[in-house]
Amino acid sequence: MKRVILAGGSGFIGGILAKYFHKAGYEIVILSRAPRGPSLDARTEYWDGRTVGAWAAELEGADAVINLAGRSVDCRYTLRNRKLILDSRLDSTRVLGEAIKRCGVPPRVWLNSSTATIYKHSLDQPMDETGEIGSTPEAQDAFSIEVARRWERAFEQVVTPQTRKIALRSAMVLGHGRNSVFPVLRRLVRFGLGGNMASGKQFVSWIHQTDFCRAVEWLLEKEDFNGPVNLAAPNPVTNQEMMRILREICRAPVGLPSKHWMIEIGAFFLRTEPELIIKSRRVIPGRLLKSGFQFEFRTLREAFEDLVHN
Ligand SMILES: NC(=O)c1ccc[n+]([C@@H]2O[C@H](COP(=O)([O-])OP(=O)(O)OC[C@H]3O[C@@H](n4cnc5c(N)ncnc54)[C@H](OP(=O)(O)O)[C@@H]3O)[C@@H](O)[C@H]2O)c1
Repeated sequence: MKRVILAGGSGFIGGILAKYFHKAGYEIVILSRAPRGPSLDARTEYWDGRTVGAWAAELEGADAVINLAGRSVDCRYTLRNRKLILDSRLDSTRVLGEAIKRCGVPPRVWLNSSTATIYKHSLDQPMDETGEIGSTPEAQDAFSIEVARRWERAFEQVVTPQTRKIALRSAMVLGHGRNSVFPVLRRLVRFGLGGNMASGKQFVSWIHQTDFCRAVEWLLEKEDFNGPVNLAAPNPVTNQEMMRILREICRAPVGLPSKHWMIEIGAFFLRTEPELIIKSRRVIPGRLLKSGFQFEFRTLREAFEDLVHN
């Protein structure tokens, strides 16, 4: 039986991938710092995300390792949280590399999470994988860019001759799970707060959870993929457009806008960062499209319709 290891797979993306690959006939092993009993889709083994332990035996002869571990970025970037965000990503990447190197029969492919936030704040230029990387004061994204760069560098530096490596530059994944943005957006809209956020002109890149899983499967199967890949639907929209579509689908006539200063204050009280809302992410899936990948949900309207009604 084919086996996929989901390191840090107890969260939102791990949940959707476990369900998808279990249905496709794979054995799923989740590596977690707090293992719970086996679920319908997966069994869970203990790891600390930092040191090689008994868990490493699970990698032997596995088809794929997918690293999803990392302290959520949805928090205030205090010194302590910055350290947790960075260390959890670098440590888990480094230790998976060590474990893969020790395998007699290493996994065929290693997918390590990264982020579509790595590209420069852009209102006009769509960013495929050749897009410019970097921060701008306007987007308040210096820390996120530093994390993304160091995370990908740590991944690049591990040499695994028999294991293909792909960095997943993922856009916001839209789904129903805990930690997904979609339920938060829907709640705002239902409470009449679903208007433009800040200028509303900033672009939002997104991908429906089904396409995210299908794209991951595609990357596992296409033997010629290596390096960074954008996981984003082909049609990013402005924040204004996103909120308008969701209001229409939820039949919410009123949507109070939130000005930039309101977002700064709100983010403080909600213990999150304004960057998550104000940065313009205009990211497109250059490599996926070029390889012939077909999206099921190409427009945000199709994705929202599906999530609101199912
Ligand atoms: N969700 C999105 O839309 C999105 C978009 C772009 C990129 N990403 C990236 O994709 C990855 C997975 O996202 P997700 O939404 O599934 O995140 P999530 O729900 O927060 O899950 C991440 C998992 O990482 C583990 N973790 C948390 N803190 C850790 C620490 N200090 N050390 C080691 N492990 C730790 C946790 O597992 P245990 O507590 O069981 O160990 C947790 O379940 C993340 O790296 C995220 O930055 C997500």
